[in-house]
Amino acid sequence: MNRPLPKPRFMPTAAAVKTSQSGIFLGEGCYYDPEQLPNGLIIIIGASGSGKTQTLKAIGWELIQTYPSIRLVVVDFHGDQQLPGETRYALDMESPHGINPLVIDFDTKAGGPDLQAIATTATFKKALTMGTNQEGLFLNVLSACYHQRGIIQEDPSTWRREPPNFDDVRAEIEERVEEGCKESMKLERKFAATFRYGIFSKTQPPLTAKITRFDLSALGKVEGLGAIAADAIAKQLLDSHRIMGEIKGRLPRTYLFIDEAKEVKNSRAVKLIFGDGRKYGLACVLASQRTEEFSAEAIANASTKIVLPVDVTDYKKVASKFRFAESKVASLKPLEALVRMGTQAKQVNIVPFWQRVQGL
Ligand SMILES: Nc1ncnc2c1ncn2[C@@H]1O[C@H](COP(=O)(O)OP(=O)(O)OP(=O)(O)O)[C@@H](O)[C@H]1O
Ligand SMILES: [Mg+2]
Repeated sequence: MNRPLPKPRFMPTAAAVKTSQSGIFLGEGCYYDPEQLPNGLIIIIGASGSGKTQTLKAIGWELIQTYPSIRLVVVDFHGDQQLPGETRYALDMESPHGINPLVIDFDTKAGGPDLQAIATTATFKKALTMGTNQEGLFLNVLSACYHQRGIIQEDPSTWRREPPNFDDVRAEIEERVEEGCKESMKLERKFAATFRYGIFSKTQPPLTAKITRFDLSALGKVEGLGAIAADAIAKQLLDSHRIMGEIKGRLPRTYLFIDEAKEVKNSRAVKLIFGDGRKYGLACVLASQRTEEFSAEAIANASTKIVLPVDVTDYKKVASKFRFAESKVASLKPLEALVRMGTQAKQVNIVPFWQRVQGL
């Protein structure tokens, strides 16, 4: 006998009726608890002066206070993300520190110099808009650099040797120019600013301090150098977290903070973090002024979305993308936020970072 199926009944889950507040305090009646959410990913949208920096810093600061095991890596494009107790590395012409995009992923199934050369070429291709010939040539140059250091794809025991950096790349290109290669000459010109800044040729600090902040503000927007550095940092974090293996609970090991989502919109590594990072305990917090500046992966996968006041021309788009009433989006004042966390939605007055540390 065919009976109609009973109507589904939605029972609140234990987590949904949980009343005791856990996690970190964002503002009156609003807590962010990564252990109660599908992932630790957060995106923050707001116009200039809406409170993005204050909200990012408040979240970073509270995470550190509440969860002793968590580490922060802050990629700071504006130079205003400083937090107490941080280790700061400025990346500029004078700094002794850099980021090496040629650091190899040691995973024997998905790493090695060949894949690193391909990934690095793809990043530079986008950032410096290289054509197919230059792309092939650059890949070839990178392979030669790894070989010269005795690092061979087929022999993983060689992968832990000191990787080449952009001094090696420059020398290799110059050698080819001297041999009369015209295409190498064009490549050299293309990389002139990159070589001049030298940030990919200097000693790279470890990413293991409690709070590591890379201050990229001096790079400005020079030919996407900041974007390349951010992508390299994201990739190294993802690689090292994969090597550590999957986490048991839901609490992330590390939060990567990036205050300019548009700089990493095309970053493959950041997309992978938004897709896969959760398993390995790598979360990410992205902020930006406009919806277009986030990748589709970021918007689709972040289980926490924070909407601060946006530009009037963006009310409609933000309301529909983030599923809030347009009138609510339009009524926000600086540091007032509409917050969506998993299935919950709230309006909250964010307590800014500067208030949290007053008198400390
Ligand atoms: N130390 C402070 N004391 C008082 N008010 C502050 C302090 N720092 C920031 N504010 C205020 O907090 C609000 C949010 O500033 P915030 O820097 O977070 O904005 P933002 O969204 O990051 O802007 P932008 O896109 O320009 O970086 C602003 O109204 C600002 O004037
Ligand atoms: Mg800001």
